[in-house]
Amino acid sequence: MPEGHITYTSENLTGAVLARIAPDASPRMRQVMTALVNHVHDFVREVELTPEEWEEGVGFLTELGRWCDDKRQEVILLSDILGVSMLVDAIAHRTHASVSETTVLGPFHRENPPVMQNGQNMSPGVEGERLDVAVRILDEDGAPLEGAQVDVWHTSPDGFYDSQLGDAHNMRGRFLSGPDGLVAFPTVMPASYPVPHDGPVGRLLSAMGRGPMRPTHVHFWIKKPGYRDLITHIFRDGDPYLHDDAVFGVKASLVTDWDAPKAEGKPATLTYDFRIPREDAA
Ligand code: BEZ
Ligand code: FE
Repeated sequence: MPEGHITYTSENLTGAVLARIAPDASPRMRQVMTALVNHVHDFVREVELTPEEWEEGVGFLTELGRWCDDKRQEVILLSDILGVSMLVDAIAHRTHASVSETTVLGPFHRENPPVMQNGQNMSPGVEGERLDVAVRILDEDGAPLEGAQVDVWHTSPDGFYDSQLGDAHNMRGRFLSGPDGLVAFPTVMPASYPVPHDGPVGRLLSAMGRGPMRPTHVHFWIKKPGYRDLITHIFRDGDPYLHDDAVFGVKASLVTDWDAPKAEGKPATLTYDFRIPREDAA
């Protein structure tokens, strides 16, 4: 056997891969790739991944890519159901007790939703229980913010977003907050619904014995120049899936009681005060 050649083993291969990162790679690239290689190699060693399982994993990732187009993002969905999206969110928004909490964007926001006026029905022609939405956009000190752009979207009472039903926009709108920071309009009561589960991520959920459901919620994306964007949802208290959200997006501060006014014979109402931080806030 010729001398001077290296044999890579399960013990020395990790170090060999790390040694190939070029000295002039950026420090952040070095940090991220070193951790990634270490963790992936440790994972393969820990579970003693077989060649058949490796092949299945490669097939799974290839299929994820095939399911992605402008309407479907299976890679983000995998990140969501593994809790990675909410972990990134939790790290990015660790501080700021005085501002509203964030959660996942999800795949159902659409660019250029119908522009709506306060008071306008956001779900024209959709049959179902009425829900009144009345939210205020405030700064960190509680002062109202006028002119914030607020995108709102939710499902039908059957648990489908408009884009799952066809091309028409409905149950979504873009509002501007009034002088008192208020955005208020009637809509229809959304429902709990499954994340898209007819693809590889759905198969993975089933293989783990997990369900695909998300608890009832309304999405908000608030933008105001000089302030940080807020992407969040408000959840309906009492929903059976609040403790079993397929994407781990629930935070206690985002769960509210929509049913309180019903006792007085009034429609269900979602009220919330959003507090958004200035762009330059610490
Ligand atoms: C949503 O709430 O629309 C959503 C979020 C993550 C994955 C799928 C759907
Ligand atoms: Fe949603």
